[in-house]
This record gives sequence, structure tokens and C-alpha cells, in this order.
Amino acid sequence: MEKNYLFTHAELFIDKKLNLVTNLANLSAIIMENIDDLNWVGFYLFDGEKLYLGPFQGKAAVTIIDMGKGVCGKSALSREVIVVDNVHDFAGHIPCDCNSNSEIVIPIIKDNQLFGVLDIDSPIFNRFDQKLREDLEKLVKLLVDIL
Ligand code: SME
Repeated sequence: MEKNYLFTHAELFIDKKLNLVTNLANLSAIIMENIDDLNWVGFYLFDGEKLYLGPFQGKAAVTIIDMGKGVCGKSALSREVIVVDNVHDFAGHIPCDCNSNSEIVIPIIKDNQLFGVLDIDSPIFNRFDQKLREDLEKLVKLLVDIL
């Protein structure tokens, strides 16, 4: 069951007046703290050519992801949310934490420009159901509003 503080904390901490890195760092922590059964939460940011590792919570991770590669690169290229119920069955999945079994990647788009992606891993298979996906998409909308 999700704890109730996800949006309360996000609205308290995410602030347009703050530095972008500050907001991304706190948002990754808020997601990790308020949603059960996650082992990695973070951002890959688009530099105009590829994705590079941004603020995150979890184990050290791959630093650069080419567009179209891995779950992140595929989501960034297609600009679509990708939910992976079992990462071991996803062709081209880039493993970072061997505890990960499912994953969601949500593209972050502002004014039709790709900003990056929010990437979240879980040690539980099928972790990202429709309700959780919708909540995470709402959080990304909050973030897009302050970009
Ligand atoms: N699994 C991702 C790579 C990033 S880690 O999960 C932190 C992918 O396939 O793009």
C-alpha cells in the first residue's frame, strides 16, 4: 500500500525558486521514501544527444545512455511511458542493480522538448500497476510545471 505523503511532500519541496538539481534530488528522495518496494529512483537528463545520469537514490548506476538504448533510451526516443513487469524479459534492458526485477520509465517533456526521463526500479515483479503509474505521471507533471 502506498503511504499518503507522496504528493504532500512533493508539493512542499518542489519549488520553482530552487535550483533544478535541488528539486530533482528532493523529488527522487520523496519518491523513494513514500513508495514501498523500490530500490532505485532517479533521473536521466537529455543533453541534446544522449541521456546522462542525474540526481538519484540507490546504487551507483550507468552514467550515459544512448537514445534508443535500454528502457530509458527507448522511452526517451518514443516519448512514451514504458512499464516493464519483468526486466529480465526486456530486450536491451541495461542492468544496474541486480536486485531490480521491474521498472517504469516516464519521459519528461516540456513545451515539446525532451528534458529527460524519470527511471524507477523495484525488486518486485509487476510492481508498477495502473494506479502507481498514474501517480508517478502526476508527479512528473508537477516537475514539468516548474521547469
Ligand atoms: N535499466 C535502465 C538503466 C538505468 S538503471 O535501471 C538505473 C535501462 O535499461 O535503461
